[in-house]
Amino acid sequence: MISVAIDGPSGAGKSSVAKKCAELFGFVYVDTGAIYRTIGLAAFNRGIDTKDSTAVISLLPELSIDLRYNENGEQRMFLSGVDVSGEIRRPEISMCASNVSAIAEVRDYLTDMQRNMAKRYDVIMDGRDIGTVILPDADVKVFLTASADARADRRYKELINKGSKVSYEEVLNDMKRRDEQDINRAAAPLKAAEDAVYLDTSSMSFDDSVKNVCRLISEKTGRQPK
Ligand code: DC
Repeated sequence: MISVAIDGPSGAGKSSVAKKCAELFGFVYVDTGAIYRTIGLAAFNRGIDTKDSTAVISLLPELSIDLRYNENGEQRMFLSGVDVSGEIRRPEISMCASNVSAIAEVRDYLTDMQRNMAKRYDVIMDGRDIGTVILPDADVKVFLTASADARADRRYKELINKGSKVSYEEVLNDMKRRDEQDINRAAAPLKAAEDAVYLDTSSMSFDDSVKNVCRLISEKTGRQPK
């Protein structure tokens, strides 16, 4: 099985680039942030303070979380049998996801789910600790990043297109706060693996980012994109 790990901060374009590359190589795209978001949503819906690790940990045995793929090959997240793929994208859920992801027990709870995907399929998996913790032997490791302004600008446009009423400053501040928390946590912090290829997409188009990642995958695996 081939595995490609793409890590990096929020808004660097990981998910869109990873999704496109997965389509071109015929690999399964695994968005691990969506799994943390599902736990964040579960806690939020029950009125649990997502910073209260004792309360979040006691919720874990009651959770039923499923990662499934629909007929179009899209990843969908299910919480207690209900498709929550749309809900987990709500801006207020982003910080909840970051909060629960800082809890070591939450990360342990999700490790097998992520590793099992890589055992069963050729995958492109994106997240924060894929190359460092989840798949340390991945065939390809990319650390995809961009300046804070470029990332906030992309995220802002994405949210406005979806009809959200947010200001650019709000998006920039939320993003900085979340990245700071993801970088500084003790459990599997966001960082590049020593053997990751660093790719700064600040002044790259989407197509160029895809081309660069595809080239790396081809070089390291011998596979060719469609
Ligand atoms: O990729 P995302 O923005 O959807 O991720 C939401 C949060 O989940 C992010 O702030 C940090 C956490 N996360 C993580 O800790 N480890 C991962 N592999 C993926 C996401």
